[in-house]
Amino acid sequence: MPKKKKSFQAPKGTFDILPSAQNVWETLRFTASRLADDFSYRRIDTPIIESSQLFETSVGTATDIVQKQMYTFKTSGGDVLTLRPEGTAPVARAYIENGLYNQPSPQKFFYMGPMFRYEQPQSGRFRQFHQFGFEVIGDEDPIYDAQLVQMIFALFDDFKITNLMVKVNSIGCKKCRQTFRNALIKYYKPQAKHLCKDCKTRLKDNPLRLLDCKDEKCIKVRSGSPQILDFLCGGCRKHFTEFLEILDEIEIRYTLDPYLVRGLDYYTKTVFEFFISNEENKDSRLPKSSSGPAIGGGGRYDDLYHLLGGRNTPAVGLAIGMERMMSIMQKNDVKLIAKKFPPVFLAYLGVPAKRKVIKLLSQLRHAGIVAGESFGKTSIGAQMKVADKIGAFYTVILGQKEILDNTAIIRDMHSGMQETVPRAKLIEVLKKRLG
Ligand code: HAM
Repeated sequence: MPKKKKSFQAPKGTFDILPSAQNVWETLRFTASRLADDFSYRRIDTPIIESSQLFETSVGTATDIVQKQMYTFKTSGGDVLTLRPEGTAPVARAYIENGLYNQPSPQKFFYMGPMFRYEQPQSGRFRQFHQFGFEVIGDEDPIYDAQLVQMIFALFDDFKITNLMVKVNSIGCKKCRQTFRNALIKYYKPQAKHLCKDCKTRLKDNPLRLLDCKDEKCIKVRSGSPQILDFLCGGCRKHFTEFLEILDEIEIRYTLDPYLVRGLDYYTKTVFEFFISNEENKDSRLPKSSSGPAIGGGGRYDDLYHLLGGRNTPAVGLAIGMERMMSIMQKNDVKLIAKKFPPVFLAYLGVPAKRKVIKLLSQLRHAGIVAGESFGKTSIGAQMKVADKIGAFYTVILGQKEILDNTAIIRDMHSGMQETVPRAKLIEVLKKRLG
């Protein structure tokens, strides 16, 4: 019996982005980059691997990301590295390491790329996924918090998607959060037996996360819990009020969600998450309910830079999940950026002509003319079919006669008319025809 060949599959929770899907990806990449340019965010790229300690220190050892979701490995040199699960901590590391604090503040950064989290894959949740994100570093003014929210509404506006909603909250600073934390523990402790298994652990390690558990039992207990907004200190209250006032001023619809705490430990003050609203009345300023998982989220993280060994540097940012964003774009039939197709196709008959075609392709490219070919097909008929399929305006045909005469045939693919031109004049004629 012949041995069956092993066939390979992409690892669980990862996927290929095939050529047929590139158009929607390119549309999102292009629109996000243009948004960054429009709002003066400069692109930054950090390595996909970072020291594990960076995420333990910033995202927090008691978070799901650090406890369950990191792809961590030891190199043969003994370093313990992690495939980045998010982009905020790497940007902070790069800022401190490269002394970017010497440049005028605030600095605004934009990044885009793959992130890795070991999660149970399901709709909209992958192990390798992509984010683009924006970070404003070095300013505590809530106007930046509001501008970030405004940018995402602008992005959805560009795509003509109208049912975006944002949930906002403030989780205060270190000081007021500690008082709130104590109040939470006091409230939850007597009810511990009614909580899910994870929340029993959260009560000890990360009580704030008790508030965003999706388990029915925990939601029931939560209904009588203390609310962070009642615990904000004067400074945090003022910051949050200003943030909301600016959102009102720029006419952003928001929903105040006192249970929004986010899953990463570095946040202080403002936090927000973006969803698609499932309400009919899209323009109403009334609270809305959301459907599906968060498309993106972010907030302020004024203590992170200091925690990572840098100066005290207030900062705010957000990240959007690109797969989730793309699924919404597809559901809403977003107009995709038209793909450029080669306006000219080069066809050949016989090996000498084929060799001329490979040379001609590069000469056309130099002259700024994009041309297609199908070297693998020997019959002219099959090559013409490809020319038709890619939508070429003109096909240049080289056969034995044209090689001997130093000419080329130009066929107008629309009318079917053919003209023979001297090869030396080919580029000039094509340029004229293509306008
Ligand atoms: P995050 O909420 O963990 O925040 O992730 C942001 C977005 O990434 C999520 O809303 C979701 O759309 C997408 N996402 C997260 N995990 C997955 C997954 N497993 N599969 C598919 N999409 C996923 C952050 O990462 C923060 N760094 C955001 C930030 C920037 N905060 C301040 N600056």
